[in-house]
Amino acid sequence: MSIGSVGVVGCGQMGLGIVEVVASAGYAVTALKATPGDLEKVKARVAKSLDRRVDKGKLERAEADAILGRITITLELADLRDCDLVIESALEEMDTKAKLLRELEDVMTNGAILASNTSSLPLLKLADSLRRPEQFLALHFFNPAQVMKLVELGVTDRTAPGVVAAAKTFCQSIGKTAVEVSASPGYVVNRLLVPYLLHAIETLEEGVADAPAVDAAMQLGCNHPIGPLALADLIGLDVVMAMATTLQRELADSRYRVPSLLRRLVADQQLGRKSGIGLYDYRGKEPVTNPALRPIAEAAE
Ligand code: 3HC
Repeated sequence: MSIGSVGVVGCGQMGLGIVEVVASAGYAVTALKATPGDLEKVKARVAKSLDRRVDKGKLERAEADAILGRITITLELADLRDCDLVIESALEEMDTKAKLLRELEDVMTNGAILASNTSSLPLLKLADSLRRPEQFLALHFFNPAQVMKLVELGVTDRTAPGVVAAAKTFCQSIGKTAVEVSASPGYVVNRLLVPYLLHAIETLEEGVADAPAVDAAMQLGCNHPIGPLALADLIGLDVVMAMATTLQRELADSRYRVPSLLRRLVADQQLGRKSGIGLYDYRGKEPVTNPALRPIAEAAE
């Protein structure tokens, strides 16, 4: 089972990161924009990310052009019909993903592999809704996909061993390390990471320290590359909340309870880096704490 051409579904932050990584490794990539929109704008976002690598001297201009040339962006699901592997990275909602996966299965050839980048939805339920669950598994990438080395390879009891082997070889070919995990929601990373992020937001909410102090403490005290609040903003507060909600439901565990501050920011569409403001405000030259967050002394009262 060899993989030559790859499809990616969803052109959000994760989807486009995956597109860039896969095309950079030499594969032809067809990216499906799952919601209506301007395809030129989508391609421009990939071009901008490649330009950054060129400006930093990490990539030759000719190579950046070649990578871009290997990427096709489309609104037509049927354009994925010849892909050997399709990685679905659409909205983290059960019904949306299940519907998309079924539609993909209908257009893909029998031997092709279908993967989901779901971070926390129950993989077995997704597999159950498919006609060829043996061809299905999770390839869970991390943000920013261009940088992070891990792919969690989520395997159900129905995934064929040949599919697991081919997926591992593929991950290696794009410079990632695959770690095989069972179909348990959240796999390893999000099962452990989400309670940490939620707890950091509660720590802020309770006035223990302000946002830069919480982040500096974890960076300097635990050698983390980035603090938990900045990381939550990087992932997207809506994504953090969606993962927490799913994990609390699926694992019946109060460690995934959504703090009210997170709920409020998401309701206000303050989603982190992607919306320009979240726990921090990114609209100026340097990020500053979101001015709407209560001052620490007031919060502690
Ligand atoms: N796209 C491409 N490259 C990027 C990038 C992006 N969005 N962000 C950073 N980079 C590259 C930079 O170009 C730089 O590359 P270079 O060393 O070759 O020049 C390198 O990453 C380091 O970047 P910077 O020097 O600008 O900044 P930092 O040293 O602060 O690193 C970081 C940025 C890599 C994001 C680092 O802060 C980090 O590792 N953070 C933790 C990220 C993390 O934990 N991700 C997992 C989130 S959980 C998840 O994704 C699960 C999902 O289900 C939600």
